Amino acid sequence: MSRRFRMLLLVLMSLALFFGFLNLFVPKTIPYNFDRLHIFLFNLCSGGAILLYFTEGRATVSPKIRIFLVLSVVYALFAFFKMYIPVLLITLALVVLVESARIRRFSFFPMDFFRASAPVSAKFHQASLLCLSLGLVISGLVILNNEYLKLVSMDKLQLDTFFLGFSFPLSLITLSLLFALMKEDGRPVVWLKNIGFWFVNLGVIIFFLFIIFEKLLPQVFVTSVLFVTVLMILLLLIRLGENLQQKAFLISGMGFLLYTAITGILYILYEMSPDYAPENYRWLMRMHSFASLYGWNLCGLAVICRFDDFPLRLHSYGLIVFHWVTVALLAPLGMYYKFFAGAAAFCFVIILYAILFTRGKTDKGGLDIEISITPERERHRN
Ligand code: HEM
Repeated sequence: MSRRFRMLLLVLMSLALFFGFLNLFVPKTIPYNFDRLHIFLFNLCSGGAILLYFTEGRATVSPKIRIFLVLSVVYALFAFFKMYIPVLLITLALVVLVESARIRRFSFFPMDFFRASAPVSAKFHQASLLCLSLGLVISGLVILNNEYLKLVSMDKLQLDTFFLGFSFPLSLITLSLLFALMKEDGRPVVWLKNIGFWFVNLGVIIFFLFIIFEKLLPQVFVTSVLFVTVLMILLLLIRLGENLQQKAFLISGMGFLLYTAITGILYILYEMSPDYAPENYRWLMRMHSFASLYGWNLCGLAVICRFDDFPLRLHSYGLIVFHWVTVALLAPLGMYYKFFAGAAAFCFVIILYAILFTRGKTDKGGLDIEISITPERERHRN
């Protein structure tokens, strides 16, 4: 991936994080929801473009990916200004771009999902593309219904609920990377991997439906199953994962995912409590979305952006601790204090710069933080 494209992603992802704090700096009279830019610029725009780049598997960023990035940024801006006709038109174009990439790389009908012999990492890869195009189609139908047709009226059937919906494709591609790192180890492990695949995907779909239909107790049940499944996948990664630098980032990512699950399940339990009101627990939802997007999803996106460059010349554990302090401590405090908002944004830019520009195996120029190279193996592009 070229340095210029990496710089563009750094700017976009840093801007996205900063929009998460902008409510602190602008008057309350502004009638727009900066959360849409905070979440869409990260998961749909940056994440979607990186997912397509990984799918195409080329060293350079193709015109198709550049078109996706430009259109998705325009989508986020129109969604921010609540101009829905252009959002609907762009949705169609984005679906065509994602689906054409998926069908070219895999197949129209995802037969591989049902083949035990197909690598689970490839199943997760195709599932992430399918999840992105389905998320776009469903969010388009929600806009059509809520703004124009008004056929169905449900509180949770809102475009903002897709903050979550557009985050899942990034989770699925990160899981694809994780499984690609795992060694094959006999039939029981193949079974466990496929159980992981179906429990995560069916769990996410059922959870999303329970959110839409506001069924709280079933939400607790299905997310607890998801939590145990994530724990199982983490144990498989620790046991079977090859000892590469990427593994350290992905294990840290899984830590963020468990943190995400715990804050998410806690939020559902609070939703069931008599004194629940969204504004009383916004801090918890923010901790949840910071950890899920700028923690878990970023770990996966980082591994994709530097896929051919590992090992990177940086002290992984130092950067991982810095990443946790920024996302789990500074960012949530940044919701209330301008100083911490600035500190979190500044630290996040440093983390992104270290990940995207530290010299790696194929780089001539760039940062050189520390020489600590782990034995390298061939890449695992599924
Ligand atoms: C077991 C795991 C999880 C649980 C229990 C959980 C729970 C929740 C709940 C209850 C909400 C509020 C939904 C609503 O009522 O509007 C939510 C929102 C959200 N979740 Fe999760 N979630 C989980 C996993 C994830 C993952 C893996 C991601 C991203 C990769 C994610 C990203 C988000 C985002 C971005 C929002 C919207 C936040 C906002 O509105 O500010 N969640 N989640």
